[in-house]
Amino acid sequence: MTTQTTPSWQLDGKKVRLRAYCKEDIPTVLGYINDPEVKNNLSPGIALPYRLEDEQKWYENLGRDPEQSYSFAIETLDTKNYIGGCGYNRIDWKNSHAIVGIFIGTQWQNKDLGTDAMNLLVQYIFSEMSLNKIALNVFSFNARAIRSYEKCGFKIEGTLRQQIFRNGQFHDEIAMGLLRSEWLKIK
Ligand SMILES: CC(C)(COP(=O)(O)OP(=O)(O)OC[C@H]1O[C@@H](n2cnc3c(N)ncnc32)[C@H](O)[C@@H]1OP(=O)(O)O)[C@@H](O)C(=O)NCCC(=O)NCCS
Repeated sequence: MTTQTTPSWQLDGKKVRLRAYCKEDIPTVLGYINDPEVKNNLSPGIALPYRLEDEQKWYENLGRDPEQSYSFAIETLDTKNYIGGCGYNRIDWKNSHAIVGIFIGTQWQNKDLGTDAMNLLVQYIFSEMSLNKIALNVFSFNARAIRSYEKCGFKIEGTLRQQIFRNGQFHDEIAMGLLRSEWLKIK
């Protein structure tokens, strides 16, 4: 866990802010995303451990193609602790939608911080990128994430049955989405 000097760009919510990643975040990111509680919920691929070199490479490539992907660091407003990341990782400009993702370090989960961060990300995308829809996929066993997304206004759109093999069994994957028109009504 590190305390950062806040870079100039920031987007503040009720409890967290989104800001640019700093080099100093890298060791903390590594700790967060190698935690099985985070890793097993993030990617459908083989849950192999990330190395420091992998994270450094990821950091160096961050922002290279902002029309397709970008990740914000999330930090607490009060203590300025780096607690996780969120961003968009695929944009379909023709059809006007983006895929988003988020993670919060285990010790910071369940404190309303992830929901606050996702609300900021949604606000940023709809306000700055003029897209019509934000979509994400979540594993069916990730009830906390589903609840958090629902609090942000996302709706369940469908189920990919037995899409994920994790911890020795197959699980469903849930597709969720939030339309600009829905967000305008709740914001
Ligand atoms: C998913 C994640 C971003 C949510 O952020 P968070 O800060 O932990 O969540 P919040 O505290 O904002 O909200 C969690 C909500 O889920 C509820 N919740 C927690 N555990 C739950 C469970 N097992 N079943 C149902 N609801 C649950 C909480 O009570 C809260 O709802 P409430 O405010 O109505 O009480 C975060 O937990 C995380 O990063 N997890 C690991 C990585 C991950 O899953 N990423 C998402 C991949 S799709």
